[in-house]
Amino acid sequence: MQKSLMSKLIGGVAGLAMMSGVAVAQDKVDVVHWWTSGGEAAALNVLKGNLEKEGVTWNDVPIAGGAGAQAMTALRAMVTAGNVPTAVQMLGFDITDWAEQGVVADLNEIGAEEKWDDVVPAALQKFAKYEDKWIAAPVNVHSVNWIWVNKAAMDKIGVTEAPTTMDELFAMLDKAKEAGLIPLAQGGQPWQEATMFDSVVIATNGLDFYKKAFIDLDESAINSPEMTKAFENLVKLASYADPAMSGREWNLATAMVVKGDALLQVMGDWAKGEFNAAEKKPGTDFMCFRFPGTQGNVVFNSDMFVLFEVGEERRPAQAKLASAVLDPAFQSTFNVVKGSVPARTDVPDTDFDECGKKGMADLKEANEKGTLVGSLAQGYGQPTAIKNAYYDVVTNVFHGQMTAADAPAALAEAINAAK
Ligand code: BGC
Repeated sequence: MQKSLMSKLIGGVAGLAMMSGVAVAQDKVDVVHWWTSGGEAAALNVLKGNLEKEGVTWNDVPIAGGAGAQAMTALRAMVTAGNVPTAVQMLGFDITDWAEQGVVADLNEIGAEEKWDDVVPAALQKFAKYEDKWIAAPVNVHSVNWIWVNKAAMDKIGVTEAPTTMDELFAMLDKAKEAGLIPLAQGGQPWQEATMFDSVVIATNGLDFYKKAFIDLDESAINSPEMTKAFENLVKLASYADPAMSGREWNLATAMVVKGDALLQVMGDWAKGEFNAAEKKPGTDFMCFRFPGTQGNVVFNSDMFVLFEVGEERRPAQAKLASAVLDPAFQSTFNVVKGSVPARTDVPDTDFDECGKKGMADLKEANEKGTLVGSLAQGYGQPTAIKNAYYDVVTNVFHGQMTAADAPAALAEAINAAK
C-alpha cells in the first residue's frame, strides 16, 4: 500500500516535472549570438522584450567576437554534443554551410504566410534560402564601408567636409596627429582589420576590381600591382593607430571616438549602436561618412537567425521567434538601436536618424544600380576557409609581419589552398 502510494507520488512528481519541462521547452528559445557590447545588448533587448510579451522566455547564449568566428566554433561543439539551440545569429556562407549539413529548420510555411519573398531584398534571400526554402530570418542589413568621426575633434582640426578620397582621408588623419589626437581608433583583431580592408580595396581600385578579386576570385586581380597598392594604403592607415591597439575589441575603439580621444574609426554601422548607447547624436556629436572613395557602393552583411531543426515541443516558440524577427515594426525599432537598416524593403525610415536614413537610401540605390556587394570580411564574399585565408594575410600586413609587396602573391596562394 505504502509502496504503491510512494510510486504514485513519485510518478506524480515526475509527471509534474515532465509537464513543466514541456511547458518550459514550449515557451523558451535558446539563442546563440555575439551581441555583447552595450549597443548590441540594447538592440537585442528589443527582440527579447517582444518575445516576452508573447510569453516566450529567452535563454541567452552569448559568445563574444565580431564576425562570429568564436560563436561558430562553440556552435559546432554544441550541436556535436546534441545540445541544439533554437536559433543562431549567423552570416552569409556559414548559413549555407549549416544548411548543407541538413540540420536547419524549414521556414517555408511561415515565409509564405508572411510573404517574405516580396519584401526581403534578393541579395539577402540568396543566403536566407537554401534549395529554394527559407531557412533563416534576416534581422538587418549592415554595411562595412563607413567612417565614424568625432565632431568636436573634426572641428578642432578645421575639417568641415567629408573626405572623398584616400588622400583626403590621410590629410585629415595627419591633422589629427598634429593636434595630439589618436588619428585612428583601431581594434587589433584580424576580423576588424579585414573589415577595414574591404573598403580600402574599393577605395584604391574601384568596385569592379573588388568584385573581380573577391567575388569572382580572379587571380589576375588578387595577385596584381593594384592589390599591392591597396595593401600599401592599409599599411599607411595602420601607421595612424595607437600602439595599444593589439587585441582591442571593436567597441572599445568606438569608445575612443565617442570620448574624443581619437578622431575616427573605420567600422561597420554597428559602431553607431555604441554612439546611440552613449546618447550621442549624429551631426552634433559625431559624423557618419562613407569610407572615402566608396561613395555609391554598399559593402553589406546581414545578421540572420538560422533556426535549427528541433523537437516538436520547441517548434511553437521557434516559429514565434522567426515571425518576431521579420515583423515590420520590430525591424524599425531594432535597427534604429542597432545602427543597421531593415532587412525588409517596406519599412519606413521615419524613426531613423540621419545616418540610418542615409544607410537606407544608399542600400536602395546600390541595389538598383548593382553596386551592392557582399563583404568578404563579414562572410558574404566567400566561404569561411577563404575568408580566414584573407584574415591571415591582411593581419600579417597590418602588423608589419609581411610587406605590401609580398601580400598579393601570399593572398593568392592562401586562397587557392583554401578552395
Ligand atoms: C555583426 C554585427 C555585430 C558586429 C560586432 C558583425 O559581424 O554583423 O551585428 O554588431 O559583428 O559584434
